[in-house]
Amino acid sequence: MEAKGSEWWSGETVAVVTGGNRGIGLEVCRQLADKGLTVIMTARQPQEQLSVPAQQFLQEAAEAKRKNVIFHTLDITQQQSVLDFVDWLKLRVGLVDILSNFDYGGGTRESYESAKECIDTNYYGTVKLTEALLPFLRLSPHNARIVMVSSIAGLLCYVRDEGLRKQLSETEGLTEQKIDGVLNLFLEDLKSEKAMEKWPLKLPAYSISKASLNAYGRLLALQLNGVAYVNSVHPGAVKTNMTDSTGNLSPIEGAENVVRVALFSVDGPSGHNFMECEDSQF
Ligand SMILES: NC(=O)c1ccc[n+]([C@@H]2O[C@H](COP(=O)([O-])OP(=O)(O)OC[C@H]3O[C@@H](n4cnc5c(N)ncnc54)[C@H](OP(=O)(O)O)[C@@H]3O)[C@@H](O)[C@H]2O)c1
Repeated sequence: MEAKGSEWWSGETVAVVTGGNRGIGLEVCRQLADKGLTVIMTARQPQEQLSVPAQQFLQEAAEAKRKNVIFHTLDITQQQSVLDFVDWLKLRVGLVDILSNFDYGGGTRESYESAKECIDTNYYGTVKLTEALLPFLRLSPHNARIVMVSSIAGLLCYVRDEGLRKQLSETEGLTEQKIDGVLNLFLEDLKSEKAMEKWPLKLPAYSISKASLNAYGRLLALQLNGVAYVNSVHPGAVKTNMTDSTGNLSPIEGAENVVRVALFSVDGPSGHNFMECEDSQF
């Protein structure tokens, strides 16, 4: 499909979507494929173990002989899985124009183990995959787009300690080491069962993982100035597994909020945070 009007993308445009097994990630795969982009849909299980809706989506694409949907297994928390994916990308695709990071790890319980799993998936898994894909994103003939699927829970106003809030809201002085420092402190506080008054009151691990992801996105936006647009987006309160199907938006509507950011025009924003459609503070 040729790019037309303000559409900068075409069938040659390659979008990698993680967390495609269900929920908003699956719906984003569908919407990007419907717009004619080449979608690399990834999920942590092999194709035959995907959810029924994910299998149906791939089957429909195969039956319609659509060559623009390709599945590959990718568990962003497993280094070998990321390396295998990178090797496959090198051979099969060569470049990436859009990366949409969707994974959601960890439960709503706040034990040390579940908090660590949540941070390892939402933050470290996403960072490691993004860094592994940077050489491919740098080859994009357009400015590449990196979309951090974040959450309203990651807004800095929920971090109750002013010093920590400041650290994560810095621009010039922010480093990955500083973000690691904040996350390590959070896990130490949780492990030693110290008072948690510094941290977000509700779902602190989830909240701090997303606040950290936003900070990393801002940092990356600066580092990739002129190479890629990096933005965070809260998709809305969406009825998915993660929310036990509560929320006011359908996965289709939640995905539209993400696709909009993924397809921003060539002079679009970078280093921003969107609450659904609204440009917001971090
Ligand atoms: N739903 C909302 O209201 C809402 C609000 C704000 C933000 N978000 C964000 O939106 C994103 C998508 O959430 P959702 O609502 O669509 O939830 P979901 O339906 O529960 O989907 C989460 C996806 O992440 C995948 N995943 C988890 N760990 C993974 C790993 N290690 N490697 C690869 N994939 C992994 C899951 O795979 P499996 O199927 O294999 O478990 C699943 O496909 C998340 O980042 C979430 O924080 C959602």
